[in-house]
Amino acid sequence: RLLIIDFGSQVTQLIARRLRELNVYCEIHPYQQVTDAFLRDFAPKAVILSGGPDSVTRAGSPRAPEALWTMGVPVLGICYGQQTMMTQLGGKVESGHGTAEFGRAFVTPGAKTLALLDGWFADGGKEQVWMSHGDHVSQIAPGFEVYGTSPNAPFAITADVSRNFFAVQFHPEVHHTPKGAKLYENFVRLAGFTGDWTMAGYREQAIAKIREQVGDKKVICGLSGGVDSSVAAVLIHEAIGDNLTCVFVDHGLLRKGEAEEVVAMFRDNYKINLIAADESELFLTALDGVSDPEVKRKTIGKLFIDVFQKYANKIEGAEFLAQGTLYPDVIESVSFSGGPSVTIKSHHNVGGLPEKMGLKLVEPLRELFKDEVRALGRELGLPQSFIGRHPFPGPGLAIRCPGEITREKLAILREADAVYIDQIRKHGLYDEIWQAFVAILPVRTVGVMGDGRTYDYACALRAVTSVDGMTADYYPYSHEFLGETATRIINEVKGINRVTYDITSKPPGTIEWE
Ligand code: XMP
Repeated sequence: RLLIIDFGSQVTQLIARRLRELNVYCEIHPYQQVTDAFLRDFAPKAVILSGGPDSVTRAGSPRAPEALWTMGVPVLGICYGQQTMMTQLGGKVESGHGTAEFGRAFVTPGAKTLALLDGWFADGGKEQVWMSHGDHVSQIAPGFEVYGTSPNAPFAITADVSRNFFAVQFHPEVHHTPKGAKLYENFVRLAGFTGDWTMAGYREQAIAKIREQVGDKKVICGLSGGVDSSVAAVLIHEAIGDNLTCVFVDHGLLRKGEAEEVVAMFRDNYKINLIAADESELFLTALDGVSDPEVKRKTIGKLFIDVFQKYANKIEGAEFLAQGTLYPDVIESVSFSGGPSVTIKSHHNVGGLPEKMGLKLVEPLRELFKDEVRALGRELGLPQSFIGRHPFPGPGLAIRCPGEITREKLAILREADAVYIDQIRKHGLYDEIWQAFVAILPVRTVGVMGDGRTYDYACALRAVTSVDGMTADYYPYSHEFLGETATRIINEVKGINRVTYDITSKPPGTIEWE
């Protein structure tokens, strides 16, 4: 396995991402944790030193453990990692003096070839890289030679080939270094990795780790019906069987058939202990007359915690709470809190469960990206229809019912949404769309059906493409699809007589209506 020593760069997780894409297993550990003893214990096959916000010229700034230089494993230093490497091995780094570089730069090759750069410089020409540094190396360490330079970084790529030490000033892990992946590929190849890390391997490893962490103690898992908590539950169940109990709270704001599906899947199919709590009366009563979106969210969030706690208390001797926390959640908290010196905060995915529950956390997906969670889900035998589901917000249909929530509107919305999603699936569009749903509008309109006048609700269809939900564009349906869907909804759903399509992108709109 490969060790990434994190000096606090905002993009450290992307290094892991690039390596995972090469089927190389790696772990990121903050530099404070990586002592000489840790390093010997970890026994990495190769080490990458990440970038970071500090300046190596500052007294007391982070360093790599000294043992690293005599272990005989390949080391790649990136940005701050490069600079600490040079400093520790006898070179010099200086601050400022107009040599800072931020953004796009072009590296030209040195006189000699380097295995790390195989196939990298297109026809021996310049290659685009992404720089982000204030300090720069002013003298390379003994044994190193230059293999690439940029206008403001004469030592953009250096290496000591006899020791397999490589140092680059730029960030090969980011998108704006177009051939960065090639550099990582060369690095892991020369370190002897064969790219054999797979989800099957991860599954075994994760199960062993869960067993080691929880022993014969009991674990509670909040199941939301979403991909993350589902995969976490199935994985933990495989590790500890009946010592896992899942709690699934139906807040009355789920889609048609959703609660039944979750029960069938987890209780009947996977034989997982499942408490399915129908608390819809409680939630819907609390939401009576509420129309402000933020009040809706707060009301639901608070009640959810209370209810979850109530059921969790019934599970005697539970010491652990399982969370479907993903790697991006962990990383987001690191950069948010300003670097690895601050303790990483755990996100609470399932309704924001409180730390005051006094339970220790089990987070078996902490090292995975979303698409890897899906791959793990497939590995665990979860059906594709479940794994590929569109995201669904915690507050559920409450925020798809702008204005006042009524049971009548929720019932109509559920039916309309089911017809819409059925249409999308029938036309083979589901996987092309990032998220699709119906919002029922707080307005009635006049229509005519048969010989009669109707006075029913209008609804809006939403479908967006997106990568991460941060930005989104509306999905360009054909007119035929839209026409057919509108007809089906009006014919099949009592209570709706007008259908509109929302063509707002995000920004300026948001994906949800509230
Ligand atoms: P917006 O509407 O902000 O949505 O563009 C972006 C993504 O987040 C989901 N979303 C939520 N998820 N609790 C959640 O768990 C919420 O309060 C919430 N609000 C929006 C939304 O469905 C979309 O995927």
